[in-house]
Amino acid sequence: MRIEKAKRIVELPPYLFATIDKKKGEMRKKGMDLIDLGIGDPDLPTPLPIIERLRKASENPIHHRYPSYEGMIEFRKAVSRWYEKRFGVRLNPETEVLSLIGSKEGIAHIPLAFVNPGDYVLVPSPGYPVYRVATLFAGGIPYSLPLRRENGFLPDFSKIPKEVSEKAKLLFINYPNNPTSAIAEKSFFEQVVAFANRHDIIVCHDAAYSEVAFDGFRPPSFLEVEGAKEVGIEFHSLSKTFNMTGWRIGFAVGHADIVSGLGKVKTNIDSGAFQAIQEAGIEALDRFDTPLPQIIEIYERRRDVLVKGLQEVGLKVERPRATFYFWIEVPKGYTSSQFATLLIEQAGIVATPGNGFGDEGEGYIRMAITVSEPRIKEAIERLKRIKF
Ligand SMILES: Cc1ncc(COP(=O)(O)O)c(C=O)c1O
Repeated sequence: MRIEKAKRIVELPPYLFATIDKKKGEMRKKGMDLIDLGIGDPDLPTPLPIIERLRKASENPIHHRYPSYEGMIEFRKAVSRWYEKRFGVRLNPETEVLSLIGSKEGIAHIPLAFVNPGDYVLVPSPGYPVYRVATLFAGGIPYSLPLRRENGFLPDFSKIPKEVSEKAKLLFINYPNNPTSAIAEKSFFEQVVAFANRHDIIVCHDAAYSEVAFDGFRPPSFLEVEGAKEVGIEFHSLSKTFNMTGWRIGFAVGHADIVSGLGKVKTNIDSGAFQAIQEAGIEALDRFDTPLPQIIEIYERRRDVLVKGLQEVGLKVERPRATFYFWIEVPKGYTSSQFATLLIEQAGIVATPGNGFGDEGEGYIRMAITVSEPRIKEAIERLKRIKF
């Protein structure tokens, strides 16, 4: 029998890390010691109290049964407490909070709840690739919003053609931003609310990196601005904040009808997050002020080392105020892929070519400070030895 994949799979853009993974394999075979700055997965362990809470919770037979699809009410209450403490935003845990199996799960499912075939979805370019793919899976048409350095990597809504904004159903935004590390002030979120109201567009703000910020900066929540909860939803994750990428726990908050639409999709697809993990999530959210400053301090030190090193070798980069990403312009005469290939072949440094995040990412590479300080120093020494 011939196995024929569905068009939606066949037509997918190539997996972002596929080419680089292949190259990594080749170089490892040659015995190259690779310094992998390619993937946004924290190398630090999950803080111990969170692990301890999981250990205890996993012994409770109540948690061995199916969870409720919208999440344990205790977890949703912990999310509301955290939101009020962190952002001053009040949320009804019954109707305005939904637990997710990682924020990626919610982002991937939300177009299924609101996008009809042929509807536009506004997606940032460069951007987290899931916004585009999830749109295509729902039969929607992704419309790219270029994020450019001259605009602080914020989209310019005035450039969107009228016929697109009129037929747009969802808008994805993401600050602090992957891959550019840009941040947004509340005034930008106010513009977003006005734009959404003008065109009846549901705003999906991906705040996965809201806690990974430096020098005392506390990124705002989209929901802090007036009217935001009437037009949108915000995705959060425990992954990056508490080094919990492998645990798969996140949440969505905001407009009750948007939350319930996403919940409806989930009831038909998954059966919620393991409750013992949700309990561990409560521990993380209730005590977030304890582990977080130490984690941030480590990233700050790594960031300072990398900024200095990159500037010394003549690469154009800004000092990130948030996220663990560096968005680096490639030297003249190279494409993103060519420069990433040069780095891996000549220095054993893995970086992600910017065009993997969308056409507007061409001309950049992304590095992540998810390796130890000595390894970052080693990467800089290697960079100093190569010519570009
Ligand atoms: C911008 C952004 N949003 C969401 C996610 C998904 O994170 P998770 O599913 O682990 O919560 C990621 C992961 O890399 C990301 O970079």
